[in-house]
Amino acid sequence: MNQAILPLGIVHLIGTRQTILPKRLFAPGPNEHELEQLFVAASSAPDHDLINPWRFLMIPLHKRLDLGDLFAIALRERDPSATNEQLEQAREKAMRAPLLMLVIVDETKGDSQIDLNERTLSAGCAVQNILLLAHTMGYGAGLTSGKALKSESFRLGLGLHSGEHAICFLSIGTVVSRKPFKIRQDSDSFVKIWGIEKR
Ligand SMILES: Cc1cc2nc3c(=O)[nH]c(=O)nc-3n(C[C@H](O)[C@H](O)[C@H](O)COP(=O)(O)O)c2cc1C
Repeated sequence: MNQAILPLGIVHLIGTRQTILPKRLFAPGPNEHELEQLFVAASSAPDHDLINPWRFLMIPLHKRLDLGDLFAIALRERDPSATNEQLEQAREKAMRAPLLMLVIVDETKGDSQIDLNERTLSAGCAVQNILLLAHTMGYGAGLTSGKALKSESFRLGLGLHSGEHAICFLSIGTVVSRKPFKIRQDSDSFVKIWGIEKR
């Protein structure tokens, strides 16, 4: 598309997305209709051979205490000396953001020639579609990972099978506060032309 007719609104929206961490996200989150639109956006992600290698596991409000228990169990497993206060902090992570879902990538589904990198990249595209559309809708959103995602008890508790990877949580909600905007990398730091030292 010619630069002159590129819709500036889209460029602005992409450029103004920023991570809003779950502790800064409050109700209301997306309604049913908006949620459906977010998932339609996710389904537009590129997907080699259409194997649908990722899924989202939503954690409804009535399951947050259970998720908190899984965080606390995972912490106690990797640090048996964790204090009650630390266990409580681990539990509290599950209570943030009105919309919370786990991004899961399946390493085994479909054609085995499509490796984990391709599958994870497809998931990343789906996630970015959601982040951008949520931003366009006026919500804040962010990704969080952490050591619990690798814990076997955590994975089992959430029903992941052995070929699945828990990549990160995706949180969406109304922004109550935000950090200053991060300076973006200059494209020279990540783009080179083969055979040319400097662009
Ligand atoms: C897979 C993934 C996991 C992330 N997990 C965390 C996290 O656990 N904690 C956190 O503060 N940020 C996390 N982030 C967000 C990055 O910190 C954030 O994107 C980065 O600081 C750039 O900020 P921006 O998104 O506002 O441009 C994660 C990002 C990705 C892609």
